Amino acid sequence: MSPTNLLALFGATWLLIQLCRIIFSKTQSGSHKAPPGPPGLPLIGHLPMLGNQPHRSLHKLSQKYGPIMSLRLGSQPTIVVSSPASAELFLKTHDTVFASRPRSQAAEYMWYGTKGMIFSEYGPYWRSIRKFCTLELLSASKIESMAGLRRDELGLLVESLRRAAGAREVVDVSEKVTRLIEDMTCRMLFGKCRDERFDLRETIHDMGKLVGAFNIADYYPFLGALDLQGLTRQLKQTHRAIDKILEIIIDDHEKEADNGIKKLDRDFLDVILSLKTNPKTTHEQLAQNIDRSSIKAIVLDMIFGAIDTSHIAIEWIMSELLRHPRVMKLVQEEIRNVVGDCEVVEESCLSELPYLDMVVKESLRLHPVGPLLVPHASMEDIVIEGYGIQKKSRVIINNWGMGHDPRIWSENCEKFLPERFIDGKVDIRGNNFQLIPFGSGRRGCPGMHLGLVTTKLVVSQLVHSFDWELPFGMSADELDMNEIFGATMPRAKHLLAVPSARFG
Ligand code: HEM
Repeated sequence: MSPTNLLALFGATWLLIQLCRIIFSKTQSGSHKAPPGPPGLPLIGHLPMLGNQPHRSLHKLSQKYGPIMSLRLGSQPTIVVSSPASAELFLKTHDTVFASRPRSQAAEYMWYGTKGMIFSEYGPYWRSIRKFCTLELLSASKIESMAGLRRDELGLLVESLRRAAGAREVVDVSEKVTRLIEDMTCRMLFGKCRDERFDLRETIHDMGKLVGAFNIADYYPFLGALDLQGLTRQLKQTHRAIDKILEIIIDDHEKEADNGIKKLDRDFLDVILSLKTNPKTTHEQLAQNIDRSSIKAIVLDMIFGAIDTSHIAIEWIMSELLRHPRVMKLVQEEIRNVVGDCEVVEESCLSELPYLDMVVKESLRLHPVGPLLVPHASMEDIVIEGYGIQKKSRVIINNWGMGHDPRIWSENCEKFLPERFIDGKVDIRGNNFQLIPFGSGRRGCPGMHLGLVTTKLVVSQLVHSFDWELPFGMSADELDMNEIFGATMPRAKHLLAVPSARFG
């Protein structure tokens, strides 16, 4: 039998099985109907409706079909959640049921068979990684202990911007900020700045796009072999690129250890590598399961989590400040009142900047870094609001949609207005479900504190040291504010601006 006939046979069998499953699950769920959803096309279901801006398409659909909506994307039932009250049901009330992740080709290929934290199934292995990363990298005390390296790297950026300001140069803010975050992350994880032997940032950027893509192979496994979107090829290629980088970094560390080089401060990679040689630690459970590929997957979690998030948040905040000189002035005044004539903004000052806090919230509302969070998966059949939701359903929380819903934020919801948070009632840490840029519950972002410290520090230093204007006489309305959809959602075009130094 030719490969094409074989594939057709597989396809037909798979379709038959799916049809039986749909019929069987309908009779089985009895009185509990699935949540409402749009009529789908035969076989391909709703996939074509998502387009290249799924967060916007899903938002539109939810306005018609409600805050808990079903979609048919291949064999897997998909539930889209679009209101704060329903997000609370999925991420808080029934958090234990929805704390898993669906399987995906991206996670399989790039995270070494889902051996990291972000995409692994809920269970003891995931818990042991989460505990390890929290204690060894993301706790408040660890983050504080690394304030010096953030200050050094930011100081270097300020120096280079001062030179650009002297020459009245147009600065690629996106490029500068991304490189800064990459350097901060590499120092924090590996003890040294970015390496000229490879382009980590570019590879991570490619990963962000691939992880967020709606991959037909995830929904129609029998079509996986055809690689209709070319994604499998790209995933393999990007995996090879990131694996090569991780191997170089780990080899360097192992060589240092072999040569008996003693370090004063152990970095994250030192600590995780030591689990192999010293399994009797606080992290005994992880140590028993760890091998080279799980080490790479966990390090990749931290690289991806740290690099592909904070710079995006900072670029959007700076874009909004450039478009809103009134807000920029208020932020600058607030910082000057706290910091005085000292040019360096210390991290200890950040808690005294409530207006900056509102600016960060407002920017993350309009431009959430993770527009659809990371998909969750249900671990058992459950009934929510009278709707039957099957085990292994994929759950998408439309974080972007909630930020742009006039029923939550009033008719001026498209306006950048930090004062809407003035009463301090809405927090950003996952307790108020209308604003959950870091998710919430068991799978909520473990790097939230680090992400917030980094974002606030960089923004406050950039606007404290410099006044900024748009280049080439561009007006605020002319600044392109389009986004590119992916697991994370950066600006479509780099942000360019002209700094002028505020300190002599
Ligand atoms: C502004 C910065 C950041 C934003 C906006 C952000 C946002 C998010 C979001 C939306 C999720 C998914 C939550 C869910 O599925 O419900 C997430 C998960 C995650 N983030 Fe962050 N993040 C940021 C910074 C960081 C940093 C600095 C790190 C680590 C160095 C990190 C590591 C992770 C990890 C490992 C997960 C997966 C958690 C799990 O599945 O258990 N993030 N983040």
